[in-house]
Amino acid sequence: MGAGLKRQKQPIPGLDMAGEVTAVGDDVTDFRPGDAVFGETHDRIQWINGGAYAEYVCVPQHVLALKPENISFEQAATVPTAGIIALVNLQKHIWRKPGQRIVINGAAGGVGNIAIQMARTNGAHVIGVDHTAKLDYMQSLGTDKVIDYTKEDVTELEQDIDLIIDVASTLSLSSAKRILKPDGLIVTIGHDHYGAKSRKTLGGIRHFLGLMLWARFDRSLDSSWFEVMEKRDAMGILRGMIEAGELTAVVARTFTLPEVPAAIRCLQEGQACGRIVIVP
Ligand SMILES: NC(=O)c1ccc[n+]([C@@H]2O[C@H](COP(=O)([O-])OP(=O)(O)OC[C@H]3O[C@@H](n4cnc5c(N)ncnc54)[C@H](OP(=O)(O)O)[C@@H]3O)[C@@H](O)[C@H]2O)c1
Repeated sequence: MGAGLKRQKQPIPGLDMAGEVTAVGDDVTDFRPGDAVFGETHDRIQWINGGAYAEYVCVPQHVLALKPENISFEQAATVPTAGIIALVNLQKHIWRKPGQRIVINGAAGGVGNIAIQMARTNGAHVIGVDHTAKLDYMQSLGTDKVIDYTKEDVTELEQDIDLIIDVASTLSLSSAKRILKPDGLIVTIGHDHYGAKSRKTLGGIRHFLGLMLWARFDRSLDSSWFEVMEKRDAMGILRGMIEAGELTAVVARTFTLPEVPAAIRCLQEGQACGRIVIVP
């Protein structure tokens, strides 16, 4: 998708990165060599390769922010893409209604862990759903209640929920609505489980086109699909949250560049509690 008609324009994967500026172009005003920065490697949609699995990347200045001094480069590299996804999809729903009851399905993953922390900062009661191996991790992030999806069904256990954030994208609309308050909202982020659940052609896009259409008639579905946030603004907000101690980045494992295949396998196996980082 978006990666060229016959072959990929950018063959190197990876979007998130953190590092030190080694050189700047003539028009760059925000950064200078030696600055410690973090960000995404390009300013467009997040479906295409970004070239971050490398020692050096060349990026436009507006996708970057100065790295907060209170975290390492490895921690900083875990935040941008998942953080921007969480901000764009959740900020408008979580931050305007403190005290709400929120279910996060897939809460221990990349997007989910940031969603937990955003919700907790705003005084929400957070119910996190994920795998048995990740219950302690969710608790350590401040989740009020954890549910093991391998043993229990959140839609059978809860009620009076204000907001369901379905990162894992496994809840059916009808069962999710059963536990929602009448004015409650469902936000689906969309997860193809690393290709395991997607269709060969168009992946999960068909499902999402259906949801987008249905959202026009169903008030419980978030319909603000195409809202965007300037990356410079989003990175500034994430940096502020990290500096204020509201957002912690947990690194589960690091791999070196030659070990990328093992890193991807580790991601697919889904056992890591926290993020996986590639280091040069
Ligand atoms: N993270 C990003 O940077 C980013 C950027 C753009 C878009 N997105 C979208 O967001 C999706 C999610 O990203 P992510 O990084 O958060 O993925 P992730 O790290 O893989 O997290 C998904 C979590 O959901 C859990 N899960 C699997 N099946 C479940 C079920 N039936 N019920 C509850 N939880 C379940 C997984 O646990 P298991 O270990 O058991 O599988 C995992 O902990 C991506 O696939 C993508 O479509 C993410």
